[in-house]
Amino acid sequence: MIGRLNHVAIAVPDLERAIATYRDMLGASVSAPQDEPEHGVTVVFVDLPNTKIELLFPLGDNSVITTFLEKNPNGGMHHICYEVDDIATARDQLIEQGARVLGPVKIGAHGKPVVFLHPKDFDGCLIELEQV
Ligand code: CO
Repeated sequence: MIGRLNHVAIAVPDLERAIATYRDMLGASVSAPQDEPEHGVTVVFVDLPNTKIELLFPLGDNSVITTFLEKNPNGGMHHICYEVDDIATARDQLIEQGARVLGPVKIGAHGKPVVFLHPKDFDGCLIELEQV
């Protein structure tokens, strides 16, 4: 069902510092910050040869990243995203197997359909599926 690793998302308490870390210390190619009001995040994309890293910073009042950073003040890995061919089929198969799907299919930061899966069903890791 799952294909390539699309990205790993890291919640960061200081976006400018995280940009500097990835761009200057690690020498990666880093995008300009992009506001995603529907998702309550500001995202910076770090392009790596084989995948992407997304740096997530809270945007707005009810950001899930604010809650995450309250629990993890230094930041931390927030989710990993796997690619699937057909998101509705993948979702239905997972529900059938007892996995908990978090909310409806939405359009994600890359303009593609995404859905999230409960970390309790996946060894403590929040999983995003993205249709590519
Ligand atoms: Co993501």
